Amino acid sequence: MGQPEIVLGVGGGIAAYKACELLRLFTESGHAVRVVPTASALRFVGAPTWAALSGRPVTTEVWDEVDEVPHVRIGRRADLVVIAPATADLLARAATGRADDLLTNVLLTTRAPVVLAPAMHTEMWEHPATRDNVATLRRRGAVVIEPAVGRLTGADTGKGRLPDPAAIFEVARRVLARGQAAAEPDLAGRRVVISAGGTREAIDPVRYLGNNSSGKQGYALARTAQARGAEVVLVAANTALPDPAGVDIRRVTSAEELRLAMHTAAKGADAVVMAAAVADFRPSQRAQQKIKKRDGVEPDPIALVRNPDVLAELATARPAGQVVVGFAAETENVLAGGQAKLARKGCDLLVVNQVGDGIAFGTDQNEAVILAADGTTTPVPLGPKEALADLLWDAVARRWADD
Ligand code: CTP
Repeated sequence: MGQPEIVLGVGGGIAAYKACELLRLFTESGHAVRVVPTASALRFVGAPTWAALSGRPVTTEVWDEVDEVPHVRIGRRADLVVIAPATADLLARAATGRADDLLTNVLLTTRAPVVLAPAMHTEMWEHPATRDNVATLRRRGAVVIEPAVGRLTGADTGKGRLPDPAAIFEVARRVLARGQAAAEPDLAGRRVVISAGGTREAIDPVRYLGNNSSGKQGYALARTAQARGAEVVLVAANTALPDPAGVDIRRVTSAEELRLAMHTAAKGADAVVMAAAVADFRPSQRAQQKIKKRDGVEPDPIALVRNPDVLAELATARPAGQVVVGFAAETENVLAGGQAKLARKGCDLLVVNQVGDGIAFGTDQNEAVILAADGTTTPVPLGPKEALADLLWDAVARRWADD
């Protein structure tokens, strides 16, 4: 297969400028992109910008290059159509099958998957007309990303913000890789809670004990569960990753904060996944002032105490039907160590991966084995953290089906 062909539709909203970054994410990762803005989108970002960034001609109307029948050609050649931002008007035109500009024509002629990232004021997003249009588009198989909550155009804040371009890119990449299956909401109606990142245990106001966890695996779990229709709570400890679209993110720093957030979110959840690297120990005391060095005096040793084992607590407290998943990072005796840890922690599933220099921590790839309490093992070959995440949700869904 050659370069995947993406149509980037841009609606007439102020967030159009953010689509420039989305366009770059596509082109820099080897996608050919044809930008099709609406006429009002060009009031925010002009055609030369789109043409220069995509290296392709840009037009809004079906009346240009008519000899090439562009509205049919562009739609047919597309492997994926992504619309960001999708305004209320554009959602309405798409939902009712209008064909009054090039972009809506492309939407009617393409048979490729369609991803829409709406952005508008909260009132417009919540209006029954827009709700109906979104429901119609979803029923027809389009992936409509939930807008983010945050600062809107003026001084107001609320739901309706365009999600981070990196988050839209991830959804699009996933739909491209998995086709329509990516839009299958097989986890719809399920509520899942995931911890991600690494905790920090304060030594004094400026120092802490931490670890190398980036949070990438936990974020991949959140993105995939959300894409498969689940309601997702992500308890993020000290991560620096783009917020996944449509996910309820709760930020924590220490193991104790993570523990509280997890116990609160786990109530009524169908699955709880502990992907965070939780510090096993914390300093027994946090110095109120910054610890000073003193000439000729050895520093005091830092005394440590054990942190509670959050995974074991969640496993013990779990209600019937809730699936509890742990992660184990082992540097040796990977399988035997994993089996023992699964039994010790009392969870339903344990993802065991080998860590060491450059493996797993901070990378985009992972290789692991999913161990189940019933003795089954599912090897996960080296691949993107998202592939492991999908296999883990498959394993969780099997446990739900067995109940
Ligand atoms: N975990 C937890 N609370 C802790 C420590 C770990 O909930 N205080 C969870 C992690 O989120 C992970 C699993 O336990 O899901 C395994 O963590 P790991 O550090 O590999 O195992 P430990 O039980 O700490 O065993 P050891 O460090 O001795 O290998």
